[in-house]
Amino acid sequence: MLVLGIETSCDETAAAVVDETYALRANVISSQQEHALFGGVVPELASRAHLRAVVPVVREALGRAGVGLAEVDGIAVTRGPGLVGSLIVGLSLAKALALGAGKPLIGVHHLEGHIFSNLIEHPIAPPFLTLLVSGGHTELLRVTELGRYELLGRTRDDAAGEAFDKVAKLLGLLPASGSVMGGRIVAEWAAKGNPQAIAFPRALERDESLDFSFSGLKTAVLNHVRRLSGDQLQEQLSNIAASFQAAVVDALVGKTLRAVEYTGIRTVALAGGVAANLCLRACLDKAVRARGGQLFYPSPVLCTDNAAMIAAAGLFHLSRGRRSGLDLDAAPRLSLSPPHG
Ligand code: KG4
Ligand code: ZN
Repeated sequence: MLVLGIETSCDETAAAVVDETYALRANVISSQQEHALFGGVVPELASRAHLRAVVPVVREALGRAGVGLAEVDGIAVTRGPGLVGSLIVGLSLAKALALGAGKPLIGVHHLEGHIFSNLIEHPIAPPFLTLLVSGGHTELLRVTELGRYELLGRTRDDAAGEAFDKVAKLLGLLPASGSVMGGRIVAEWAAKGNPQAIAFPRALERDESLDFSFSGLKTAVLNHVRRLSGDQLQEQLSNIAASFQAAVVDALVGKTLRAVEYTGIRTVALAGGVAANLCLRACLDKAVRARGGQLFYPSPVLCTDNAAMIAAAGLFHLSRGRRSGLDLDAAPRLSLSPPHG
């Protein structure tokens, strides 16, 4: 069984082909460069860029997999959450292909895709916990069975990736041209700095809930930066980045361990763009192992937005006979929990 996946929820136009074992036959990602000048994703530019890229990207994925549309058994497409104009581009193409080639269509929840990103490379069986950390979401989920997700905790304000992006911007680390993920640049600077140099706050550390909060941390970094001269800021960049990163990682690791204790589940899967962070991977791995558990995370290319994870989640639902109608709508604010699917 082969499934074609299409992902256009934000600023990555992606298409992929997976087989019935979740193995990748092709994984093509085109990252939009259009937003660099604006310091954030501009929705209309994103939709237009998807419109230009989506057909060539799908063609390339099929070409790399060495198959034609006729040999594909189903088409999976992200239906939400995300930017509505961007989602509509992927959905429209997926529907046209499904209709034209007579193939089943399945709409996939973007966050369920991130959960499935781990299954492409690791044979993880439920129950497991997922710490989903991306630019738009920070959630702790209990996966009792695939397709059934229980939200244990979430951010009350900024997502972890959003905090990385905002700090990259306020430290002046983003290049004027070209699109680079803020989190990756902060992590590169952090690797050269001292994580204990500045005592940034750990919000909700003693709070009983499994929730997160990162907006106070971002403000603390801003206040710290405002007290520095231009030269002092340049000298301290790596220490600020390292101390900020340590505060984010502490919060993520602390609440994940609390979730392990609360649920008794010791298999943990890390997912989403921030899962590419080496410091988070190493700290969480050590902490989960120390409790007799095991941590899984995807290769970096499967952490950030991609269509392989959408194809994998689509494969799961299609193989259970689930189908979406051709009236499938974009759902910009779709929630994953309570259970769906
Ligand atoms: O999952 P993703 O591609 O998009 C969303 O669904 O939001 O995640 C993108 C986020 C961005 O906020 C980016 O700064 C962050 O992931 N990110 C990182 C790293 N690489 C990407 N954050 C920290 N460290 C990294 N190495
Ligand atoms: Zn994502």
